[in-house]
Amino acid sequence: MTDTTTHTAAPAEFTVRPVLHYTANSTWLNDPNGLLFYQGIYHLFYQNNPFDNVWGNMSWGHATSEDLLHWTEHPVAISCDEQEDVFSGSIVVDDGNTTGFGTAENPALVAIYTSAFKEGSGLKGTQAQSLAFSTDAGMTWQKYAGNPVLSRGSAHFRDPKVFRYQGPEGSFWVLVAVEAQHQQVVLYRSADLKEWQYLSTFGPANATGGEWECPDLFPLPVDGNPDHVKWVLVVNINPGAVAGGSGGQYFVGHFNGVQFIADSDSLVEDGNANLSKCLWLDWGRDYYAAVSFSNVPDNRRIMIGWMNNWDYANSLPTSPWRSSMSLAREVELATIHGLPRVVQRPVLPAGLPHTVTIEDREIHDSTVALPDADPASVQLIDARILPGTARTITLKLLAAPAGDVATILSFDTATNQLTLDRRNSGEVAFHKKFASAEAAPVLLEDGLLKLRVVVDNGSVEVFAQGGKVVLTDLVFPAPGNLCTELRVEGGTATVRKLTASAVS
Ligand code: FRU
Repeated sequence: MTDTTTHTAAPAEFTVRPVLHYTANSTWLNDPNGLLFYQGIYHLFYQNNPFDNVWGNMSWGHATSEDLLHWTEHPVAISCDEQEDVFSGSIVVDDGNTTGFGTAENPALVAIYTSAFKEGSGLKGTQAQSLAFSTDAGMTWQKYAGNPVLSRGSAHFRDPKVFRYQGPEGSFWVLVAVEAQHQQVVLYRSADLKEWQYLSTFGPANATGGEWECPDLFPLPVDGNPDHVKWVLVVNINPGAVAGGSGGQYFVGHFNGVQFIADSDSLVEDGNANLSKCLWLDWGRDYYAAVSFSNVPDNRRIMIGWMNNWDYANSLPTSPWRSSMSLAREVELATIHGLPRVVQRPVLPAGLPHTVTIEDREIHDSTVALPDADPASVQLIDARILPGTARTITLKLLAAPAGDVATILSFDTATNQLTLDRRNSGEVAFHKKFASAEAAPVLLEDGLLKLRVVVDNGSVEVFAQGGKVVLTDLVFPAPGNLCTELRVEGGTATVRKLTASAVS
């Protein structure tokens, strides 16, 4: 018999995991923490609720990987207790044994995290910076008895990123953290990670319509030139990002050992009214709390973000886990229209066999079917297309075999806008802020639109023009919605080259 009862449709539950995007086995995660390369292993610590799949009981979860693609979950590394929740932070290798936590031969790994003090603590209501250390290469951790090591008596002082500075001012540890509600990054220095001296404050600047969180500061050569190094200050913001809710902005400038000075061209007057002029790591809805790994060899800078948005994070319809990380992204500075800007490329294996190759093919107002996505692997599409006289170039992703349900990636030649539209992508009703379409300005290069699209179970990441523009969105299509097509409308475009590959 047909069930005719009317009921509010419960959101479909998504139980097929992402293939290459890290999820905790059966719990909640948010920000990546303490990203570190050590003795041949990438460590991903993260904000984790060990007891549930919603935010709470904040502790540091732990996973490791040898290739940044396949991760193994380990027991919780640093736990909350009666006194504190363990909020975001970073890890350094204390090579010089400046803390005395290790030895010269076996230096300790030192985590600098935010203690969010709770009812059980005399410091209740404040956020201050604390230490934990490991002498077994990151597998077990002990909190330092002298915590906290840096307090301002503030309720919103958090997310310390620590690195070793070596330059004209000397050699010392530098800590960047936020005064979240003042939209400020505060800098401190230390000889031993325990005693800190105030250096300077940066901000407010550019996007300030939310709390500033999870800052990062690192040097990068411009166009790979070691004689032309600039510093990048990453400032995550929630809400108030370009696509709404959470997102990551950055500034390019100079750090002189005391102060970060932004280049005038990375500052935007009245940033909140001109969000699209601010510098964004990602124009989509789901790339937040992005920070970089410490100690990656060859000065490579690799970042991971939490692939989510506080607008709806706790409502994602997945089970038993909730939330995932982005793919790792290699970050560089390149000169774009005369200015140093961040370029990002997903870390993926090279030389994959293609499931399809299209070369030098004119497409006139029509649709070309591409191989289906496959829940057992990541679908990677690389395309170089001359839009020619076409009005729009569209990739229909994760589409239903019939009808309009799909995630739509579309380039409009009249506006030079690349739009990722998930309004009709599948399950969107679980939160009123989820259905959305995000647009980013994309300038053709030699007439070419260049796309690298990464589709995993639950997400689409788009790297346009060699990673100059990135768009990341979560999507929850019905199982079986795997059809993929390229559509050209309003004229004739030429596919110079398009390949699809499967990565697992
Ligand atoms: C960012 C954030 C951080 C904080 C952590 C708590 O997503 O709010 O500022 O340390 O999450 O889980």
